[in-house]
Amino acid sequence: MDLYLLDWVNFLLRWAHVIVAIAWIGSSFYFVFLDASLVEPTDAELKEKGVGGELWAVHGGGFYNPHKYLGAPRKLPEHLHWFYWESYSTFLTGFALFTVLYLFQANTFLIDPRVHAWTAGPAIACALAFLVVFWLAYDAICRLFDQGSQAAAGALVAALVAFASWLACDLFAGRAAFVLVGGMMAATMSANVFFWIIPGQRKVIAQMKAGEAVDPAHGRRAKQRSVHNTYFTLPVLAAMLSNHYAFLHGAEGNWIVLVIVMAAGALIRTSFVARHRARVLGKRVPWEYAGVGCALLAGLGVWLAPKAEAPAAGVPAAPSFAQVQAIVKERCSLCHNAQLANKGVRLDAPDQILAHATQMYQQAVVLKAMPLNNATRITDAERGVIRQWYEAGAHPG
Ligand code: HEC
Repeated sequence: MDLYLLDWVNFLLRWAHVIVAIAWIGSSFYFVFLDASLVEPTDAELKEKGVGGELWAVHGGGFYNPHKYLGAPRKLPEHLHWFYWESYSTFLTGFALFTVLYLFQANTFLIDPRVHAWTAGPAIACALAFLVVFWLAYDAICRLFDQGSQAAAGALVAALVAFASWLACDLFAGRAAFVLVGGMMAATMSANVFFWIIPGQRKVIAQMKAGEAVDPAHGRRAKQRSVHNTYFTLPVLAAMLSNHYAFLHGAEGNWIVLVIVMAAGALIRTSFVARHRARVLGKRVPWEYAGVGCALLAGLGVWLAPKAEAPAAGVPAAPSFAQVQAIVKERCSLCHNAQLANKGVRLDAPDQILAHATQMYQQAVVLKAMPLNNATRITDAERGVIRQWYEAGAHPG
């Protein structure tokens, strides 16, 4: 497909994806907050109606007073708002975006021959299998621990995520692996809504309408999935965003980087979820979880800090601009020229190279993210030439 058109599709899908994801995660955050912040109503009339908790809030100039019923209201209202399109549309736009970027352009973005050399067909099939197999394995754990220890279920799910991260980083380009792990967890969150939470709620309502006793299994299962979804939110966002940062996905041992960033997200979320209830009860907020999460990130920062490298053998102390130009022409201009300017970066003329000197240094020397997947086989000595030239002031002489 025309690259220009592909860029438009990419932009529009990404925009839509971020909008609906905000709506989904936002409503998820809101309901977690609401549930944890409810207090018993003082009004006898409310209690009589079956209200077990209420909240008073002010927002945008209005006063709001939501009520939560202990069971169901005596009479089901005609119009009941359901929350599922936020989730489904996040999945649909996310999957479309993943397809446009990584499946459509598998040879460029999904496959890194230095990680695993294979062709587009099997790589695409394997990426899709990640989404399906992770869901099946996760779902099996949830069914197995339906009535069992939820802590054990959580630990197994965490181990499964860590294993999938390792496998993804062992098979795909780092950037694709990170977004695939995020996508796999996010697809599971949507599948929880689609296969368990919403059908469970529908069955409960049908039982109520038929005047039957409500089976508590539906509520229990929905709760289990919805708790997992709560702790998946921050890790998923971390995985999705960190795929834009080569210092994370391009690091040696990148799967551990991914696991640490996601663990930090889950720990930080833990403190914030607990905070709502703690405030209502006047108790101390357990900030120690978030503290450990931040310490993990700080440790990662130290671990990944660029190390001073000894210059590669054969690199002149003061390379000339002509030497740099020759390297760029051979190793970069293929993907950065007038016809194909990835990320708007052209490197096919001297003034373009000078204008992008810092970005080139960052991408090709510090991060080694360019040439993409080292498609043009740049050597360490050549990176060294760019380094020496840049560090000596990037002069056009
Ligand atoms: C095989 C194709 C290919 C080659 C060769 C290549 N690049 Fe890139 N480059 C890309 C793509 C694709 C992107 C956009 C990546 C993205 O979407 O984040 C990019 C992005 C960039 C960016 C912008 C990064 C950003 O996030 O703003 C810079 C700078 C860059 N390349 C420099 C180089 C340099 C320097 C070389 C040669 C040493 C090089 N590239 C070789 C494909 C290539």
